[in-house]
Amino acid sequence: MSNPFADTEAFEALRTAALDGDEAFERYRRREAASARRQVARLVELQLSARIERMVEVAIAASRAVLLVGPPGTGKTEILEQIVDRIDRDPARYGFTTEGIDAAWVTPEEEWTFEKLVLGETVEDGEIRSVEGDLLQAIAKNQWLVLDETNRADMDRVLGGVLTWLSGKKVRVGSRRAAGEPIVPVYLEWTDQAECQVRLLDTPPSVEYAAGAEWRLLGTYNAVDAQRVFRMGQALSRRFKHVPVPPASPQDFERIIAGHVSDEDRLEWFVDRVTRLYAAHLSVEDAQIGPGLLIDVPAYVEKGLQMASYDRPSVEGDNSSALADVSPTDDSEDAFIEELLAEAYLVSVGNLVAKYEPDLLDELGMSIARSESLTPANWLWVKENLHAMRA
Ligand SMILES: Nc1ncnc2c1ncn2[C@@H]1O[C@H](COP(=O)(O)OP(=O)(O)OP(=O)(O)O)[C@@H](O)[C@H]1O
Ligand SMILES: [Mg+2]
Repeated sequence: MSNPFADTEAFEALRTAALDGDEAFERYRRREAASARRQVARLVELQLSARIERMVEVAIAASRAVLLVGPPGTGKTEILEQIVDRIDRDPARYGFTTEGIDAAWVTPEEEWTFEKLVLGETVEDGEIRSVEGDLLQAIAKNQWLVLDETNRADMDRVLGGVLTWLSGKKVRVGSRRAAGEPIVPVYLEWTDQAECQVRLLDTPPSVEYAAGAEWRLLGTYNAVDAQRVFRMGQALSRRFKHVPVPPASPQDFERIIAGHVSDEDRLEWFVDRVTRLYAAHLSVEDAQIGPGLLIDVPAYVEKGLQMASYDRPSVEGDNSSALADVSPTDDSEDAFIEELLAEAYLVSVGNLVAKYEPDLLDELGMSIARSESLTPANWLWVKENLHAMRA
């Protein structure tokens, strides 16, 4: 990105804008924040089928509301971040005319209500005041709204009042109560203009939050969060276009996991074992997980090895290389790494696997045994420890 301060004119414009509390400054600030997010996003090279990627892009370009659906850790959040960023950099490719496309990201919580997302109330100096929820705020700022992990909240309840609006019609969502102003009804509406508009209408007095033709409601939905997931009912679900984000193939996973191994000497071992674990999950339909859930496994094992090597006094008195001196074929070292691998699995995926029904857990156990990713003794140990994670 070019440095705006290298250009005196741009700097002057920004400074004046900042002093005026100007929209332009606000936009500049948001773009800076988006650019910082982008720096992080660039580090992750997603291994995703080109066709899925295209579907996400075309669906967002073509439709008001799009939901990315798939098992946990398949990169739904990541791809959405990257694609929103891509659209921001070249809106014309997607048929957008808006400059500086930006999105407000929110993660629904279990206790979310319509009031939190759309329009709520609070008491201020003994008076009831209305409060814009995330949706109205996003429209007021002309920001897209991204609901990350919609399965965490009962979205049927939260969005029930705006179903009709989602299909393109105007709906009343409540009243605006502001200090010293008459109470007026608030409507959600759409406009053919590219950008969102908040309009104050006189006859009858009302406020209209009109989402622009280029405004988008995006979201991710984790389809297999076992029993905990809030299912989205048909009425709401059909208001969104759904794009599946399946887990990367084991071949792609090998590439992904290799990027998360620091210990060059054990690179092959890590890639082999963690990929076997991943494939063991993939081969049981209801136990499918994405790479995201296993990418921290190498870091855990490496840390465990490092700490053991620090604890073990070496012959030369140099603690740091003690374990490195032990040949990797050494039996006790082998057993130790196997333990670390099982622990890494437990801390990464145990929380999810603990929610599996007994049949599914058995099926997964057989698949893990066949894959030779965890030793039978270590799988038993994992299973014993899952009890503690069952809330
Ligand atoms: N296909 C992939 N290619 C490369 N990396 C991936 C892929 N899928 C997941 N990852 C890695 O996993 C991390 C976590 O993925 P992300 O959080 O986007 O998954 P998610 O689908 O949103 O998960 P959840 O449903 O749990 O929210 C990514 O940042 C990335 O490092
Ligand atoms: Mg996510």
